[in-house]
Amino acid sequence: MSAKTKIIIDTDPGIDDAIALFMAMADPNLEIVGMTAVNGNVSVDKAEYNIRRICDFAWHTNIPVYKGCDRPLKRSVLNAEWVHGADGLAGLDFGTPAYQGEKEENAVDFIIKTLMKSPEKEVSIIAIGPLTNIATVFLKEPRTISRIRELIIMGGAFCEDGPRGNSTPYAEFNMLADPHAAQIVFDTAERVTVVPMEVGMQAEADKEFLEKMRDLNTRCAEISADMLDITAKTLSDHLAQKSKTGTAPEKGTSLYDPCAVGCLIRPALFSGKYGTVQVNTNASDEKFGMTTFEEGNKRNCLVTHKVDKESFKEMLLAHLANLP
Ligand code: BDR
Ligand code: CA
Repeated sequence: MSAKTKIIIDTDPGIDDAIALFMAMADPNLEIVGMTAVNGNVSVDKAEYNIRRICDFAWHTNIPVYKGCDRPLKRSVLNAEWVHGADGLAGLDFGTPAYQGEKEENAVDFIIKTLMKSPEKEVSIIAIGPLTNIATVFLKEPRTISRIRELIIMGGAFCEDGPRGNSTPYAEFNMLADPHAAQIVFDTAERVTVVPMEVGMQAEADKEFLEKMRDLNTRCAEISADMLDITAKTLSDHLAQKSKTGTAPEKGTSLYDPCAVGCLIRPALFSGKYGTVQVNTNASDEKFGMTTFEEGNKRNCLVTHKVDKESFKEMLLAHLANLP
């Protein structure tokens, strides 16, 4: 039997983060050596608390959880509570976790220590929030960069003829929330796989999919469907408010962060191109936070642009079925 893949998940739960964490916890071939919280959808305090709530809810109480950076490297703090709810998890009842989290050590130091003490290329990182913790790790201990087995990032948007942003017309949230950190990571990482906004949008959770999720009859599947239902309503109310008619077409919810986990579990479901990524770090530009891709060149980034969405969604359901 082959050894499990060791991973650290850097996250800002966040509704789609929660489902991504469920997916990772349910995968029999992954060993989660730690989860690290970063300021993003909600403050780092709430994100760290939410990670513990999510782990407890899924009865995975043995994963160490660390608190990371409470603000971006240079820009002002940006959160997305209007999408994820004031608590970050749509106000749903995840309960109160018994585990207090790791108080002695910061997330950045934990990531550095783990990478430096593990054999080279043993530990992978999935980053599904703004890249502040990861950039800080690279700045503080550059020797970590070559030790990572694989770095998978949910972020950015690259579609020439599609939407370039979900936070502004040009910027995806994780990039906009810390563009300077993102640029450091894209410039210095040896090998990154990027799962951008358009891939998460392809894997949309529509009504039919949510019914299948509820049919699993497990508490993790049920609460995932509830969170996605609430997000669909929030986004549709938001679009309706902005539209001239006061209505918005019914839409599902993009599975952004679960796609990043899916890409580590079954990379063959995703296709992409190698090249380099740039992030607009000019705060006075309307395109602040926008990502661009150049094929070829240094080729340290694999930017995915397509997912086999039906197979991915089946895989997500199969994983949820493995949890309580
Ligand atoms: C990303 O931003 C966050 O709101 C989501 O959790 C996801 O990581 C999508 O743009
Ligand atoms: Ca996230």
